[in-house]
Amino acid sequence: MSDFANYGGFCPLEYLRAYYSELQSESEGLLQFLTSVFAAAPHAPLVLSFGGGPALLSLIPAAKFARAIHVCDHLPENRDYISRWLAGDNSNFDWSPYIARCIELEGELASEKVIGWRAARIRNLVTRVEHGDIFSPCPIRTRLKYEVIISNYYLDAVTSSKYDWQCFVIKLSEYLKPGGTLVLSSLRQTDHFEFGSNRYSNVWLDIDDLPEAFIGAGFDPASIWVDSAPADFKSREYQGVIFASASLPLDTSIQPWRIESELSDNSQPSWR
Ligand SMILES: C[S@@+](CC[C@H](N)C(=O)[O-])C[C@H]1O[C@@H](n2cnc3c(N)ncnc32)[C@H](O)[C@@H]1O
Repeated sequence: MSDFANYGGFCPLEYLRAYYSELQSESEGLLQFLTSVFAAAPHAPLVLSFGGGPALLSLIPAAKFARAIHVCDHLPENRDYISRWLAGDNSNFDWSPYIARCIELEGELASEKVIGWRAARIRNLVTRVEHGDIFSPCPIRTRLKYEVIISNYYLDAVTSSKYDWQCFVIKLSEYLKPGGTLVLSSLRQTDHFEFGSNRYSNVWLDIDDLPEAFIGAGFDPASIWVDSAPADFKSREYQGVIFASASLPLDTSIQPWRIESELSDNSQPSWR
């Protein structure tokens, strides 16, 4: 693993307090994006959250539709946090404002009862919490292929190399079924982020980089969807956040376009 991906000293609660203590523009944007992705996803998808850390956000919209959800992260501390929450421990962090907002975005009334049902549904549907490491030749140990993979603020946060990041997109896409959808979120225009006493490098990305990476990984250009949101605070190190999703072609005989040829093509991307 490169120095940039050294997550030693990462404290799940410190991370949650830094990025999820209030539901502001970044999480509002991501919840809106994911709610729309799942509304259009295939029936009852099998969902993987890769590098999910201690954050439950993406599991909330997924749980309305998924038939099962698998979660993986590199750090045992993050997996322990998720496992404790799944076992019923709500004491460290309150996810109910996020659940309530997601239910509102789905057009329902977010009563206490409905919020409780969604939390219970997440607990039922998350059937695996596993080690995952994108630097490994086999990032997760499974023969399964997923209909939806979500990876928020993760692939961009483990390297400073755009080439490596693009290779990681290809690596994750290999766990998708034909027609499957990959959802990526990333920080916009920064080479680092920091919280507490830790500073982490980040690959510098802007909006056009995500569709380019999807095209380079063989996703259907017509399926690419990109959105963004401003940073929660002016004092953040980044200019905002980017959300993007794309689906693989259903026809697996279509060969993925190679990164090299795509990057040397100066024509306008077809997703515009
Ligand atoms: C910036 S956090 C993002 C967490 C979460 N996805 C979110 O949306 O808030 C980056 C995550 O990447 C995880 N991570 C770091 N190196 C990794 C690796 N090599 N493989 C898998 N996960 C890794 C860390 O444990 C951390 O949870």
